[in-house]
Amino acid sequence: MKKPIRIGLVGSGFMGRTHALGFRSVGAVFDLPLEPVLELLADATEDLAATAAARYGFARSSGDWGALVLDPLVDVVDITAPNKLHAPIALAALAVASRSIARSRWRRPPRRRWPWCWRRNAPVS
Ligand SMILES: NC(=O)c1ccc[n+]([C@@H]2O[C@H](COP(=O)([O-])OP(=O)(O)OC[C@H]3O[C@@H](n4cnc5c(N)ncnc54)[C@H](O)[C@@H]3O)[C@@H](O)[C@H]2O)c1
Repeated sequence: MKKPIRIGLVGSGFMGRTHALGFRSVGAVFDLPLEPVLELLADATEDLAATAAARYGFARSSGDWGALVLDPLVDVVDITAPNKLHAPIALAALAVASRSIARSRWRRPPRRRWPWCWRRNAPVS
């Protein structure tokens, strides 16, 4: 059984439609270890998002891309919104991803956690 990868799509216009189509059909064309799941679609309004989500086959919808970026069930943030939104959405998604990577690092033993800290704080001989 393939591992699911849950997609969060921001923007449901021309490119959003093509990406949704790609996610739905990629398994028929390529032998991949992952299975895309159309989890959440965000657009400028709740109505636009709900209409597109129903049409493209997404499980949920939102009128707020910020909520999509923070959604714990979204693995991939796919940006197909207008150009001016690319940077804020990508930076917000990166901030969430880096927090999650940092959290997983805290589970490591303390000495291996931040080796550069130990080196920087070591007395100069
Ligand atoms: N159309 C193309 O051939 C093409 C090709 C390559 C790349 N692109 C790029 O893809 C991106 C989207 O282009 P498009 O042609 O699909 O545009 P589009 O206008 O068809 O779709 C944009 C979508 O973003 C939504 N949107 C607007 N504000 C939003 C917000 N605040 N939150 C969430 N969604 C919002 C719109 O409602 C719409 O559904 C652009 O960056 C464009 O440069 C387009």
